[in-house]
Amino acid sequence: MVQNVGRIFLLAAVAVAFIGDSQGANILGLFPSLSPSHLIIQMSAAKALAEQGHNVTVVTVLKPAVTHKDINVIQVPLTKEEAASMSAIIEKMSKNDNKNMLTTMFRMIGQMGFMFDKMADALKDPRVRGLYENKDNKFELVLSGFFMNEYQMGFAKKVNAPLIVVATMPPNLLLNFLIGNPEEIAYVPSINDSLERGQGMSFKQRISGFIMSLGFRVFGKVLEYRNKNSYKELFGDDPNMPEYSEMMKNVSLVFFASHAISEGPIRPNVPGVIEIGGIQVKDTPAPLPKNMAEFLGNATDGAILLSLGSNVQGSHLSPDTVQKMFNVLSKLKQRVIWKWEDLDKTPGKSDNILYSKWLPQDDILAHPKIKLFINHAGKGGITEAQYHGKPMLSLPVFGDQPANADAMVKKGFGLTQSLLTLEEQPFREGIEEVLSNTKYAQTVSTFSKLYRDRPLTARESVIYWSEYVIRHHGAAHLQSPLVHMSFVAANNLDVFALLAIILVVFLLLTKAVIKFIIRKLSSKTKKVKKQ
Ligand SMILES: *[C@@H]1O[C@H](CO)[C@@H](O)[C@H](O)[C@H]1NC(C)=O
Ligand SMILES: *[C@@H]1O[C@H](CO)[C@@H](O)[C@H](O)[C@H]1NC(C)=O
Ligand SMILES: *[C@@H]1O[C@H](CO)[C@@H](O)[C@H](O)[C@H]1NC(C)=O
Ligand SMILES: *[C@@H]1O[C@H](CO)[C@@H](O)[C@H](O)[C@H]1NC(C)=O
Repeated sequence: MVQNVGRIFLLAAVAVAFIGDSQGANILGLFPSLSPSHLIIQMSAAKALAEQGHNVTVVTVLKPAVTHKDINVIQVPLTKEEAASMSAIIEKMSKNDNKNMLTTMFRMIGQMGFMFDKMADALKDPRVRGLYENKDNKFELVLSGFFMNEYQMGFAKKVNAPLIVVATMPPNLLLNFLIGNPEEIAYVPSINDSLERGQGMSFKQRISGFIMSLGFRVFGKVLEYRNKNSYKELFGDDPNMPEYSEMMKNVSLVFFASHAISEGPIRPNVPGVIEIGGIQVKDTPAPLPKNMAEFLGNATDGAILLSLGSNVQGSHLSPDTVQKMFNVLSKLKQRVIWKWEDLDKTPGKSDNILYSKWLPQDDILAHPKIKLFINHAGKGGITEAQYHGKPMLSLPVFGDQPANADAMVKKGFGLTQSLLTLEEQPFREGIEEVLSNTKYAQTVSTFSKLYRDRPLTARESVIYWSEYVIRHHGAAHLQSPLVHMSFVAANNLDVFALLAIILVVFLLLTKAVIKFIIRKLSSKTKKVKKQ
């Protein structure tokens, strides 16, 4: 008996300690985005929390590439036909030139109606509804993966937990309003623009930034309309649910996949902005498989990693191009690790080339012997190379790849060539240039040092701030008042209007008084003259 009571006390004490420590919290992640690259970042945040011992449940549509044995994944997959129309949409989008953010966005509204509907459908799945309908489920935190799908934030109210939004981009006009982050369009460039160091924005830049921000506002209104409808559809039957606009004012923090002080733009951010850029990269590399470790360890002249992603192979890589690449690479003194799917049919045998079907890319890039990364300019690969400070030669094909490659070249981290028109001589010269001219390696390694120099790593930030919100049951105390202010109030337009009115009244009064005095004076002089 006594022993039992003692045991119960002990259990209670442990439970309290756990709650107090926000250890082992139940966390719900809503990540229904149909974009694999968004899902990687969102799942990396979930993984950091699972590794910390939290019980993470996530809702996805796609099968996540990043996961963890303790993450409970509820996948609401697309049907075969839906997956096919999805690839058609992706194909169509990748054919459009993505030069202009705004036109891309408006095109997205047309093409992605399907995506928005699928994300909302996922939340209607009985297993997903069960998360809040089953009162045995207790959640201490909801992570809402941002993909222009604010309506899903209603889940936080349903399970009565505070809310953190996980965005896969830097602070911008689609997200700032959620936490009252100032827009400051006079000197904060829009997403796809950057300022030279030590310079302000010119008149022309500010005009174009202003027009861009108006465009964003219109886009934001269209999204809000869609979101309100989905919110009603999902939660309209519950009278306890707050208005959509009220729900939007209940975000504790936003995790942004950026790191402003190394990447820019330099701008003021409110405390609700938590930057977790590089979350998908491991803090410390895992040991390489034995064959790769030896192959790289013995590479006395350095080594090259070649990976063109998984989409590129087959459809875009002609045997002719592969032969040309092999001819160049097999004659280098550097060793080459080449990601190649079909090991029975390799491009050719050479002592300096190691083919591998599967690559721990992040861990290989961390290896000091790697001197060059030849890639297809996917966002993930470029981020990893920037993190590890490795110069690049990018061979983009489609989608966002050419733009990613251009941005990488602009930063001075390497060179780019088209894979579709690859020729031996320029390919060899490109490789030799990046290997021999130290400016690329130096620039990217300087960036890497800045990028990694943080008080908390990306993983630590996710853990610390999630537990912070859990410990304090939200973060209303650090919310910017801007969340509760209209555009007019936030910009003091009403104050300026009042000043203008006072000024006008004052001028009119002055005018009237002067007129009066002049009339008095003139009538006096008339009287004097008459006498
Ligand atoms: C960003 O703008 C530059 C020109 O300033 C353009 O070359 C590039 O393709 C754009 N990238 C995206 C992703 O819109
Ligand atoms: C983890 O959370 C899920 C969803 O609420 C719940 O069903 C499960 O029992 C939890 N597991 C643990 C070990 O608490
Ligand atoms: C906002 O979140 C808190 C918990 O963080 C909750 O108590 C409150 O009901 C929420 N308000 C709305 C409008 O959802
Ligand atoms: C690398 O060198 C070690 C000796 O240091 C040798 O045992 C091993 O076979 C070499 N591996 C390769 C792949 O060359």
